[in-house]
Amino acid sequence: MRIVAKPASSYVCQSCGTSFPRWSGRCEACGEWNTITEEAARESAPKGLSGKGGRKLEFVDLTAQTAEVSERRVTGIAEFDRVTGGGLVRGSALLIGGDPGIGKSTLLLQVAAAIGSPNAGLAAGHTAYVSGEEAVAQVRLRARRLGIATPAVHLAAATNVRDIIASLDRADGPDIAVIDSIQTMYVDSLDSAPGTVAQVRASASELIRVAKRRGFALLLVGHVTKEGLIAGPRVLEHMVDTVLYFEGERGHQFRILRAVKNRYGPTDEIGVFEMTDGGLVEVANPSELFLAERRGNVSGSAVFAGIEGTRPVLVEIQALVSPSPLATPRRAVVGWDSSRLAMVMAVLEARCGLGFGGNDVYLNVAGGLRITEPAADLAVAGALVSALSGVPMPENLVSFGEIGLSGEVRAVSQRDQRLKEAAKLGFTAALVPPRRGRRDGGDSPLLHEIGHLHDLVHFLGVNESTLRARS
Ligand code: TYD
Ligand code: MG
Repeated sequence: MRIVAKPASSYVCQSCGTSFPRWSGRCEACGEWNTITEEAARESAPKGLSGKGGRKLEFVDLTAQTAEVSERRVTGIAEFDRVTGGGLVRGSALLIGGDPGIGKSTLLLQVAAAIGSPNAGLAAGHTAYVSGEEAVAQVRLRARRLGIATPAVHLAAATNVRDIIASLDRADGPDIAVIDSIQTMYVDSLDSAPGTVAQVRASASELIRVAKRRGFALLLVGHVTKEGLIAGPRVLEHMVDTVLYFEGERGHQFRILRAVKNRYGPTDEIGVFEMTDGGLVEVANPSELFLAERRGNVSGSAVFAGIEGTRPVLVEIQALVSPSPLATPRRAVVGWDSSRLAMVMAVLEARCGLGFGGNDVYLNVAGGLRITEPAADLAVAGALVSALSGVPMPENLVSFGEIGLSGEVRAVSQRDQRLKEAAKLGFTAALVPPRRGRRDGGDSPLLHEIGHLHDLVHFLGVNESTLRARS
């Protein structure tokens, strides 16, 4: 047998982290183009480990008590605490991703400052804020703009992980460490450039190891690429305990913090913030914000009573239907699932005879929120029928309900919570799925039960045959 020399370098896809023995233009694993770069080979594990030393593991009882998770550090920024599942857990690693300029550094500086001021009976904690992107003077300037003046935030500008670890790995180390951003960090024993998969992975794993050993919460900032992935490494998402995305349109003022993975809490919570001159401000009642710019009595608009995590949120869904010059009319969706839109349209066509055929259809969730609930189906259908017919939905009406393929409207969870939020914001009527069994009167808002999409069309007073004739 011929012994093949170990290659001096390997070729690693910067998108998915798969490594190949040779370069190619397209990653076979994830299908991305031009993502493969040369990296110094990582040391492979030595073969045949049995009987060659090693330390005996100490197994412990599954049922024994652990204090770890109960030790959370509440920041006092309620929107942040909710998304993390009740504060930062000692020894955990949290990745916060988002587009450049969305406000990650601002958020973490505010979190660091909040932890530095005693709250909720907790002693103030001190934060090490390591910036690899901005100079200390720049961070100070930002802090001054935010009105943050606490001695509990210790700043440093550094990118070498060895130096950072030397400063964090000590008994009098910080309670929280912020690394802004992980893409600027490098481990000097690797040849690859900062930001490559190898560097990001190595830097993160070194930092996480220290965080676990010393019990401080590690907050890593990660930039998101155009494709919406935390740059390069999906691998990073597996290494940390919690992944949060900070989203929002740069043009809009508000920002949504969303948990996509959380070992210590739920993943469907959102936190809503508004970016102001004085930094990020919590938005306690997002519905008011999302509906602020709504103009009543226009066709193609419906208000959806949704649930985000544990909170009811009302948003406006807008639809526009216009004759298309294209052979294949356009279907554009912002903030909702495009295949779900296709389904709702197909059901309206097949079951109610509405024709979208020669029209472009646009659907927009106003305010930049992204909805994932199927409960939005009925509001979407309402907006579509209204846009197609030109008949506005009543201004004081909210809707929710899931639509099935035969056009039936199905019940959704948390009905009462949705209705309560609608009533709170002054809505007096609601389109809802029929309630099975017991009917309990005295509901406010006034409920209109919609069992089938036909009922929706009738409710709007639209003549189905005119809609058919239009297309
Ligand atoms: P930043 O936190 O630097 O974003 P990231 O770290 O995600 O790249 O946010 C930068 C943007 O936020 C910038 O466009 C200016 C704006 N901003 C405000 O509007 N108000 C403020 O008080 C601060 C500090 C920033
Ligand atoms: Mg930044």
